[in-house]
Amino acid sequence: METVVINITTEYDKALEKSAELLKNGEVVSIPTETVYGLAANALCENAVKKIFVAKGRPSDNPLIVHIAKFEDLAPLVAEIPEKVKVMADAFWPAPLTMIMKKSDKVSNVVSGNLPTVAIRMPKSDYARAIIEACGLPLAAPSANLSGSPSPTNAKYVYDDMNGRIPLIIDGGNCEIGVESTVISFAEDPPRLLRPGGVTLEEMTALIGEIVVDDAVLNKLEDGAVASSPGMKYKHYAPSADITIIKSDFETFKTLCESEDNITALCFDGENEKLSCKSVTYGDESDGYSQSARLFDALRELDEMGATKVYARCPDTKGMGLAVYNRLIRASGFKIKVI
Ligand code: TXA
Ligand code: MG
Repeated sequence: METVVINITTEYDKALEKSAELLKNGEVVSIPTETVYGLAANALCENAVKKIFVAKGRPSDNPLIVHIAKFEDLAPLVAEIPEKVKVMADAFWPAPLTMIMKKSDKVSNVVSGNLPTVAIRMPKSDYARAIIEACGLPLAAPSANLSGSPSPTNAKYVYDDMNGRIPLIIDGGNCEIGVESTVISFAEDPPRLLRPGGVTLEEMTALIGEIVVDDAVLNKLEDGAVASSPGMKYKHYAPSADITIIKSDFETFKTLCESEDNITALCFDGENEKLSCKSVTYGDESDGYSQSARLFDALRELDEMGATKVYARCPDTKGMGLAVYNRLIRASGFKIKVI
């Protein structure tokens, strides 16, 4: 299959027209969002959704997020809208925020991975919402990487993974946030944070009170444990290089990196100039948003450089840092050294 790329920043009408046509015909289109690129298909058509799993090589028990353009699109997809969801939607949507609720009969088990719930997100990206509006359908969309690689934050990375597998990629430039949305479940009370992202735990707690942080956010799931979010049991965000997170100050980190041969450092901006080994930077030490915007690109750059052994600086886990740390511990296979 030939994969066409249309740039929505320069060919807006054509991008909307072509993507709407394909989506209405049950095809898969990669779309830009503010978090990462998505692999979208008509959420109400089982055959269309099945094509996403094939293109991505994704296990069929891992459910998909359904993307909507306006609040009115929510009610048909869920059994009921909990009060706290209304408050959250009012305060944050459109946003890098996915809310899980009990699903309605309209949502197929192919989308929900046989769970009784469905995950819904209204993306902040104007391009993403314009595409949803143009086809007039709720769009099921996982991140547009092959299962197991880092989520793509630009159209070139989507092309690298999806060339020949899908008919169309809409190029909307670089993703602003750079890591996937916050996922929080309202199928239970207090609500449960399943994946940290661009809307932070602190922001949500200030609005709705107690939120339980699922164990899998910060820890490796025990073998055989049942995951609250099926995606958490799969290996994720893994570059080929072997990464170890080093919890220490910069001087200790520098000494360690320089005491061994063939280390590549994954460090904060500016620190690279003080290191004699090879390095890749991932944002400002004190700014979680600049780290999230860089992290997945940095992981891909490590692969492109052929890095084999990587020592990574450890981010702070407050605010946006929690999402960065959550992705980095998975990229490292939970290898953390405290010095
Ligand atoms: O930012 C994002 O959320 C991106 C863009 C494209 O919107 N999408 C994304 O989708 O990251 P995906 O499929 O890569 O991650 C969705 C996560 C998975 O870990 C999945 O297991 C979980 O959300 N999930 C989806 N539906 C769920 C449900 N009903 N219950 C529990 N977890 C669910
Ligand atoms: Mg993903």
